[in-house]
Amino acid sequence: MRCSACGTDNEAGRKFCAECGAPLRVTCTACGSANAPGAKFCGECGASLTAAPAPVPVPAAERRLVTVLFADLVGFTSHAEARDPEDVRELLSRYFELCRTLIDRYGGTVEKFIGDAVMAVWGAPVAMEDDIERAVRAALDLAASVDALGHELGVPDLRARAGILTGEAAVTVGAVGEGMVAGDLVNTASRIQAVAEPGGVLVGDPTKRATEAAVVYEDAGVRELKGKAEPVQLWRAVRVIGGRGGALRSTGLESPFVGRDRELRVIKELFHASSGESKAHLVSVMAVAGTGKSRLSWEFFKYIDGLAEDVRWHRGRCLPYGEGVTYWALAEMVRTRAAIAEGEDPDAQLAKLHAAVEESIADPEERRFVEPRLAHLLGLEAAAPADRENLFSAWRLFYERLADEMPTVMVFEDMEWADASLLDFIEYLVDWSKNHPLFVIVLARPDLAERRLTWGAGKRAFTSLYLEPLSIGDMDQLLAGLVPGLPDELRAAIRARAEGVPLYAVETVRMLLDRGLLVSRGSTYEPAGRIGPLEVPETLHALIAARLDGLAPDERRIVQDAAVLGNTFTLDALAKLSGLSPGDLEPALAQLVRKEVLRLQDDPLSPERGQYGFLQDLMRRVAYDMSRSTSARPAILRRPRSTRATTRWSRSWPPTTSPRATRIRRPTTRPRSAAGRPRRSSGPASGPGPWRRPWRRSAISSRRPSSSAIPSSRPGCTSRRA
Ligand SMILES: Nc1ncnc2c1ncn2[C@@H]1O[C@H](COP(=O)(O)OP(=O)(O)OP(=O)(O)O)[C@@H](O)[C@H]1O
Ligand SMILES: [Mg+2]
Repeated sequence: MRCSACGTDNEAGRKFCAECGAPLRVTCTACGSANAPGAKFCGECGASLTAAPAPVPVPAAERRLVTVLFADLVGFTSHAEARDPEDVRELLSRYFELCRTLIDRYGGTVEKFIGDAVMAVWGAPVAMEDDIERAVRAALDLAASVDALGHELGVPDLRARAGILTGEAAVTVGAVGEGMVAGDLVNTASRIQAVAEPGGVLVGDPTKRATEAAVVYEDAGVRELKGKAEPVQLWRAVRVIGGRGGALRSTGLESPFVGRDRELRVIKELFHASSGESKAHLVSVMAVAGTGKSRLSWEFFKYIDGLAEDVRWHRGRCLPYGEGVTYWALAEMVRTRAAIAEGEDPDAQLAKLHAAVEESIADPEERRFVEPRLAHLLGLEAAAPADRENLFSAWRLFYERLADEMPTVMVFEDMEWADASLLDFIEYLVDWSKNHPLFVIVLARPDLAERRLTWGAGKRAFTSLYLEPLSIGDMDQLLAGLVPGLPDELRAAIRARAEGVPLYAVETVRMLLDRGLLVSRGSTYEPAGRIGPLEVPETLHALIAARLDGLAPDERRIVQDAAVLGNTFTLDALAKLSGLSPGDLEPALAQLVRKEVLRLQDDPLSPERGQYGFLQDLMRRVAYDMSRSTSARPAILRRPRSTRATTRWSRSWPPTTSPRATRIRRPTTRPRSAAGRPRRSSGPASGPGPWRRPWRRSAISSRRPSSSAIPSSRPGCTSRRA
C-alpha cells in the first residue's frame, strides 16, 4: 500500500506509513469502513469523508434559580380501590388535563407526572419576571380547582395538596420535560408537599419572602422533613390579595373571598374560551347592592394579572347624575388607556389621545377615522361628526385593534345607572366584533332589567350570572376571616343582620371597630364590653335610603306603608293601611318584586303563600325610619300606640343615628339623564314579565356553551407585555 503523503510502499494491512507516519486509510465516521486516503466519500455508505465530524452532544447543566412545585391528590389510592376503573381513569385524565392547563396558564413547565403527583418548574427552560409568584398562584388555583373537579365528578372529598420551593438547582440546558431540573431542591419540594394538609399549599421561606406582597401566608411551623438533617420553616399560602407584585392590594379591611367560587370559575373559563377562540363574549353579573359584584370583578382582575399571558384590562363606572354622563364608563376606559388625568388641559388630552391611537392602530386611514370620534367621546371635539352610527363604529374599531394585539377585558360597573345608548353600544360591540377576543363584563343591580327588559336576549355570546345572598356557612367564613375570634353570639347577630349581603356584614364590623366596641388582641378580636342591639351603620343607612329614594314616589310610599306592617304582609292588610285598592296596589307591588325590594311567597307548601315580604329586613327598618316623620306616616299610625301592630319590632330596634353618612356609596340625589335632567323612575311595568322574584332561579345561565370590590382606587386600564 503506497503512502499518499511520501510515496513509500508499505506492507498490506498497515494503518500508518512506516516512513512518514501519515494514515494509510480513512475510517468512515458514519459506518466505520476503511477507505483509501484521499477518498472524498465512503465506498461503503456514501457518507462524506472530508466533512468535520458531527459533535457528540454532551449534556450541559447550569445552576439556575428555579421554583419547583409538587402537587398530588390526597387519599386517591384508597378512593381508586373502591371505584370502577373507568371512573378512576376518567378522574385521573381530567386531573392531568387540569394540571397541564393551569401550569401552562401560569407560565410553568410540567416536568413529569409520577402516579397522581405532578412536578412543575418555573424559571427553566426560560426565566421570566414573577416566576415565583406565578408558581404560588398556580398552586392555589390547582387546589381550588381540584376541589371543584371532585364535586363535579361526585367525589366531594377529592383534594390536592402542594409544596413549593425556590432555590438554585442544576438545570439541563436545552432539556424540556423530564430530567430538566435536579438537585436537593427537588427532593425538598417533594417532601414539603408530603406534609401539606389536604387542599393546602405549603411553601418554604425563600418562596414566601418573594411573594408575600401578593399572597397572604400563615405560619405553618418549623417542620422535620424526611431526608433533611435540619428542620425547615414552612408557610401556608392562604389567598392572593393583589395584582402582580401585590399591585392595588387593599390597605383597609378586606374580607376573604367566599361563596362565589363557581361564578369566578365560570368567568375565568369564559374568558379563556374568548381569548383562545378569538371571540367576543358578554357576561352580565346582576345582584342587589352590596352582594359582591365589584368584588367578583376584583377577584377576576387579580387572576388575570397573575397569568403569564398579557391581557388588556379596562374598567369604567356609570354615574348616576351629572352632565354628559351617557358614555361616561366608556370614556373613562379610553381616558385611562391614554393616561389622561382628571382636569388635564384639553390640548394635553388631545395629544395623549393622539399618541394612544398611534400606538394602537397601524393603518393611517383608520386612525383618521377613529381619533376625532374618540375625542368626541371625551368631550374634546365638539365639531366631530356626531352621528351615532359612525361614532359607534369608530369606538368599536379602536377596541378591536386593541384586542387584535392581546385579549382585552372591559368591565362596566354600576350599570343600573347606564343610559340606553351605552347599553346599545355594548350590544353593538359584542355583535359586530364577534371575531375579536373582547371580553365584556357588565355589573348591575336588578334595576338594569327594568331599564332594558331584553338585556342579553337572543345573544349568542352572552352569559348571565345572578349573585344570590351568601349562605350562613359562607357568612361565618367571611366573618371568621375578617375578625378572627369573634364570639359566637356576636357573629350570629351580625350574620342575622346581614341576611347574606356581605356589605352589611363588612359595614357592621367596620362600625364596631370604628366605635371601639370591638378591639384587636393580637391576631384575634374581642368585644371591648357588652355590645347592645346592633345599630344600622350610617353607611348602610345612606345606601339603603338612596335605594329607596331611587324608587318612584308611589312605590316609595307603598314600601313605607308596608314597613309598618312587618316583615311579611298580605295585600289586603296593605290595602287597608294605605287606603289604595288591591287592584291599584298589585302592579306597583309587582314592580317592587322585580326591583328586588319585596318578594312574593309563591311556594305552594308555604303557610305564607301569596304574602309579600321584604327581601332584606334592613330595607324595611330604614324605610320605617324614613316614614317616622308624621307627614309621611300612614294615617293609621297617628292612632294611639296601643292599637298599632308595630310596637313589637320597633322596640327591639333602637333608632338609628343621624342618616348623615360618613362614607356615602351612592348619592341620594335623583338620577339625572345625560342632558342633566332628572331621570324619570320608570313606573310599574305593563305586561306580564318575569316579575316574581325567582326563588329557585339558577345562578348561571349561558347561551353559549363554554368550550373551554373594585373600589375606585382599583384598576382602570392595565396591560402588560412579556
Ligand atoms: N364573596 C365575597 N366574599 C367576601 N367578601 C365579599 C364578597 N362579596 C362582597 N364582599 C365584600 O362586601 C362588600 C361589598 O361588596 P361589593 O362592593 O362587591 O358589592 P356590589 O355588589 O358591587 O355593590 P354595589 O351594587 O353597591 O356596587 C365589599 O367590602 C366586599 O369586599
Ligand atoms: Mg359595585
